Amino acid sequence: MHILITGGTGLIGRRLCAALLARGEQVTVLSRRPHLVAEICGAAVRTMRSLDEWMPSMHFDAIINLAGEPIIDARWTTKRRQILLDSRVGLTEKLVEKIQQAQVKPRVLLSGSAIGFYGTDETQNFTEEAGAGHDFSADLCMQWELAAQAAQTFGVRVVLLRTGLVLDETGGVLKKMLLPFQLGLGSQLGNGRQWMSWIHSQDYLRAVLHLLDDASAQGAFNLTAPNAVTNAEFTKVLAKTLHRPALFVAPAFVLRLAMGERSDLLLGGQRVLPQSLLNQQFQFEFADLVPALADLLKASK
Ligand SMILES: NC(=O)c1ccc[n+]([C@@H]2O[C@H](COP(=O)([O-])OP(=O)(O)OC[C@H]3O[C@@H](n4cnc5c(N)ncnc54)[C@H](OP(=O)(O)O)[C@@H]3O)[C@@H](O)[C@H]2O)c1
Repeated sequence: MHILITGGTGLIGRRLCAALLARGEQVTVLSRRPHLVAEICGAAVRTMRSLDEWMPSMHFDAIINLAGEPIIDARWTTKRRQILLDSRVGLTEKLVEKIQQAQVKPRVLLSGSAIGFYGTDETQNFTEEAGAGHDFSADLCMQWELAAQAAQTFGVRVVLLRTGLVLDETGGVLKKMLLPFQLGLGSQLGNGRQWMSWIHSQDYLRAVLHLLDDASAQGAFNLTAPNAVTNAEFTKVLAKTLHRPALFVAPAFVLRLAMGERSDLLLGGQRVLPQSLLNQQFQFEFADLVPALADLLKASK
């Protein structure tokens, strides 16, 4: 299979490249940093600098679309919101345009989204059947998904990856939390009641490969472990795993002052259930946080 990956140099993408190469697949990565692709994704990976290089005669069997500016790294000014939108929705629209022009269409498009689709809530359980929320993250995800769904018009199977907090020791949310927790400065965020719907990166990869291979999989899939935890619980388990105390609370108003609306990503949350994966009998290796963190942080204690 020849697979085109956008965002292949990212936290998830680089793991995915390694897993696909190990299966013997051919991989092309779209990247603004083509000189780094071989080093990050593997020497056998081909590089595409811009979608303009995709000629109608070129054939990909599958596309995995993960590209997007990091959402938590900078304040959501009007300009930043546009950058976040363009890097996901704009790029996905262009991808679908290229699919339309391709002489032979890919069989499947797995396209990124996030559990931010549902908005935030402390009491509700969100399965794939729930509607979209009403904040910026929800709107961003909805537009991103709509852009990808347009590929169905050309006979492409479209799977929407509603991704939870991917736990990986080399990057993302866990790496950001690690240093303060290792220093004994780990803290609960606000009242700690907000849900964190996490997934071990290994299960994330297994789920993506499963959705790539299963020709019956179509539509939205929540990529989260079945057992979400509150921020208070996550704080407790992470501190315990590292054998450090976590005695502090980062007050909500301080986070709001420092981060603006972006603090919703830390102070709000959603309890998400991977109902569609469970319906397909997908087996999680790490359904619970304690063994997941123990596995991820084996070397960090
Ligand atoms: N990790 C998580 O916990 C999580 C949770 C929910 C959703 N997601 C979503 O899943 C996707 C992959 O996550 P990740 O953690 O692997 O992300 P990541 O490490 O931040 O990587 C994102 C990739 O997107 C590309 N990119 C960034 N800005 C871009 C732009 N303006 N135009 C085109 N490409 C751009 C970059 O590739 P180049 O620099 O090589 O071009 C980068 O490698 C992201 O869209 C993210 O929002 C992730």
